[in-house]
Amino acid sequence: MRITDTSDLWWKTAVVYCLDVETFMDWNDDGCGDFEGLAQRLDYLAELGVTCLWLMPFYPTADRDDGYDITDFYGVDPRLGTHGDFVEVVRTANDRGMRVIVDLVVNHTSNRHPWFRSAEASVDSPYRDFYVWRSDPPPDTSSEVVFPDKENSIWQFSEKTGEWYLHRFYRQQPDLNVTDPKVRDEIAKAMGFWLELGLSGFRMDAVPFLLETQGTDKAEAARLPDPHEFLRELRGFVGRRTGSGVLLGEVNLPHPQQAEFFGGENGNELTMLFDFIGMQSLYLSLARADAGPLAKALTDRPAVSPDSQWATFVRNHDELTLDKLSDAEREEVFAAFGPDPRMQVYGRGLRRRLPPMLDGDPRRIRMVYSLLFSLPGTPVLFYGEEIGMGEDLDLEGRMAVRTPMQWTDGPNGGFSRAPKRRLRRPVVSGGYGPEHVNVAAQRSDPESLLSFMKLLIRRYRECPELGWGQFEVLPQPHAEVLAHLCRWEDGTLVAVHNLGAEPRTVPLTLEGCDSTHRLADLLQDGTTPLSDAGRADLQLEGYGYRWLRVVADGSRRLL
Ligand code: GLC
Repeated sequence: MRITDTSDLWWKTAVVYCLDVETFMDWNDDGCGDFEGLAQRLDYLAELGVTCLWLMPFYPTADRDDGYDITDFYGVDPRLGTHGDFVEVVRTANDRGMRVIVDLVVNHTSNRHPWFRSAEASVDSPYRDFYVWRSDPPPDTSSEVVFPDKENSIWQFSEKTGEWYLHRFYRQQPDLNVTDPKVRDEIAKAMGFWLELGLSGFRMDAVPFLLETQGTDKAEAARLPDPHEFLRELRGFVGRRTGSGVLLGEVNLPHPQQAEFFGGENGNELTMLFDFIGMQSLYLSLARADAGPLAKALTDRPAVSPDSQWATFVRNHDELTLDKLSDAEREEVFAAFGPDPRMQVYGRGLRRRLPPMLDGDPRRIRMVYSLLFSLPGTPVLFYGEEIGMGEDLDLEGRMAVRTPMQWTDGPNGGFSRAPKRRLRRPVVSGGYGPEHVNVAAQRSDPESLLSFMKLLIRRYRECPELGWGQFEVLPQPHAEVLAHLCRWEDGTLVAVHNLGAEPRTVPLTLEGCDSTHRLADLLQDGTTPLSDAGRADLQLEGYGYRWLRVVADGSRRLL
């Protein structure tokens, strides 16, 4: 391995930033964000240090699921702009050193997609088999729905032909039948189209549901090729078309199944998987001020190929799901971070952003982001996290965290010049409103969260051991402290985080080190000598955090 390998496997040390064009920046004053507005903000994102944008769905949509119900896989929602505007954004982002990936939502279409309209109209439609149908009344599937507040079955009766169709999500999102080779071809063709416009890959929505063969006759399902073969085909396809494009998959499953979606040690399926288990354990650790659950989740991660990578995150656009915790653990997190039922959703998650959950305590917020960027993997930010935006619990369900980006303390937080009533979604008000939380103010303040995020991103990018290295939890006596190390080639980073409110002295002994090594702080000034036995005592404040590079005498690495 050489440092230059980090450019081939660019995604192993990327900083991914997720945004929705419609809530990011409105340039034509109609109250809805657009591609022109995003183009205006690319320099901001580049300055932040982002290296890969993830665009949430921007396709024509019936808008039942905020764009995740698509009516045309080849289109651009006219409210957001045109294909021309899209290409301008991709090209300009590339020029600023940022790649672009987009949501690929092919588990289902909208029920208003022409394929489904045709399929629903007649059993003889050429598109009938694009979807999954059954003619006998379905059993009770109320425990299998993803949105239990709105659905109680994964089968919806269709009057037109007297049959039921499969839908994992809302009934307006009929599931595509990927066992049909024609559907597979259509998916690849749509991917090929967007790749040709300069993308570097996709964030793949709902992958386990996409691969499942529910609804297919059992004997038939057994004759079909392994559904994972389809993922291997898509990975191969993206590789052939782009050379280095990625598939970043949404697979919220236990570790052994996640390993399968990577393609096991062959690493020939999804390039990256979100670390849902790590994320959920992080919140349990924060709630308990005990690093144990997080340390366990990290050490339990299955070994993956060097061509695979974990994508780490603190928050995304959906509910903060806690579905992989036990009932008692979930209750602990609810009690700590969202005790009011209004803050919870689907019985499994929270619809809040991080800062309000931590009572706005700047020490804790910074500690969590320092931890995120120090974890082995590729960090993914959700827009607004860099300035500490809050949520709006008056909005429905998951929309609470999808409010407009806050650029200034001016009207509509600088998101749009349209009258307030025409905004796509209201801007947050109150303590987290734009008067208190906005980009403009934080840009000129070296002590702001935004400035701190920039520092974290710069350090992350300077430490490829975080994306590539071997990970170890370091033994030390305090339950509330996580001390860990990432080692790659001659680079070793030690990170210590205090999840508790009390200061701690953390004794560490670093194997293979002695007094010819020292620890150099990367987030503040300072150097700590190591003893002959490789030992140091590190001071941490309450909610304190430190990143320390192990420097050998004579090392040529820049500090
Ligand atoms: C994924 C998306 C979510 C969407 C669902 C259906 O889970 O993250 O926002 O509602 O898929 O497409």
